[in-house]
Amino acid sequence: MTVPTLRLPAQLAEPLAAGHPWVYRDHVPGHPNLPDGAWVRVEAGRAAAIGLWAAEGAIAVRAFRRAATGGPLAAPDRAWAEAMVARAVDQRARLGLGAGSPIATDAYRLLFGEGDGLPGLTIDRYGRFAVVKTYADAYRRPGSDAHALLVAIVRALAAALRLKGVLAAPRAGEPLTALHGEPPPPEVTVREHGLAFLANLHEGQKTGLFLDHRENRATVRGLARGRRVANLFAYAGAFSLHALAGGALRAIDVDVADAALADAVRNVAANAAVIEAAAPAAGPAASRHATLTLDLLADPAAALRHPQLAGSDLIVLDPPSLARHKGQRHAALRAYRRLNAAAMAALPDGGLLATASCTAQVSPEAFRGVLAEAAAAAGVDARVLHDAGHAGDHPVPLAFPEGRYLKFVVLRVDRPT
Ligand SMILES: C[S@@+](CC[C@H](N)C(=O)[O-])C[C@H]1O[C@@H](n2cnc3c(N)ncnc32)[C@H](O)[C@@H]1O
Repeated sequence: MTVPTLRLPAQLAEPLAAGHPWVYRDHVPGHPNLPDGAWVRVEAGRAAAIGLWAAEGAIAVRAFRRAATGGPLAAPDRAWAEAMVARAVDQRARLGLGAGSPIATDAYRLLFGEGDGLPGLTIDRYGRFAVVKTYADAYRRPGSDAHALLVAIVRALAAALRLKGVLAAPRAGEPLTALHGEPPPPEVTVREHGLAFLANLHEGQKTGLFLDHRENRATVRGLARGRRVANLFAYAGAFSLHALAGGALRAIDVDVADAALADAVRNVAANAAVIEAAAPAAGPAASRHATLTLDLLADPAAALRHPQLAGSDLIVLDPPSLARHKGQRHAALRAYRRLNAAAMAALPDGGLLATASCTAQVSPEAFRGVLAEAAAAAGVDARVLHDAGHAGDHPVPLAFPEGRYLKFVVLRVDRPT
């Protein structure tokens, strides 16, 4: 197969050679008239790569194979896709995830796009099902090279893991479609570190659950004994469930989405035995869990003063992404400052704040900076106990810092003496 070649400015040679997987449209000279989702070769200095062309959007080319010093490069084919899938599956198994998982987890990210050398798509596993999310339209357009690649990947995954169904994540207002096999039942039960979670693959947020926080939830479990937890932006209560399983005395899930909170109640019921065994003197699981429907972004300080949250000494703060593009970055930083200052002000001396940001436009350094400003505004001393991102099933190439979207920091909040 011959593919067209695009010559890029020399300044892109270094990132291309280092493995940065994106070429932004404003770096592509002229306006090449190429079919959406077709293979294209890009060259800058001596570096070259083969990638998929996107006719629209800020990212013009997603690079799959590269050669730091040029030379021929074949367009990825079915055999190549199968090898990439086999490698990703093997890497997850080596992390202890997957069949017979020693950490009792069968919900995790099978493919993390750029991090697994397959840019523009993610695939999450939920037991015997997998959910594909695409970030370039051509993946879903039959006839394109991108679609042919996706078909090969899906087949290889389904065969390697004997999946019952591989699904395209539903877009707003669209029904879920099966790319392979059968659609899932309305609800799938999966396990995360031994706890049972209900996942609605038809209508859930993200691809069903927020898998990127798996190890962060385990961290909270290890810190929760004897604590009273306020889980803000709770979704289906996954952080609370881990905290209760770690011996928390009580947990309150707060979110604006009623349906998610209803799932949180069912998740606690499904894990009642584990929760009660973790703190036998604390009473039945259901009596130690509550939900609260509240808009937390409108006025965080007022929300944190809600009487049901009084006495919380472990606050989890996991808002949704607060900036979709660079232009919203400053507003996002302001919102993080307000939220975190309100949470710190509400904590007693020695309280813990487990705070997250999934906004890609906010770097780990910027997030730390905002936390320091929030501590100053709240008049507290805050110390970092733990600083993390996503788990090993979300690998990030060193040359692609944009890939590290998740920040997770645990702070101890001390009142100045
Ligand atoms: C990143 S998710 C939380 C994931 C969760 N911590 C977990 O581990 O599964 C963000 C949550 O914020 C909720 N949310 C969005 N806007 C909100 C608002 N203004 N007030 C309260 N919750 C909101 C969404 O419904 C969603 O459940």
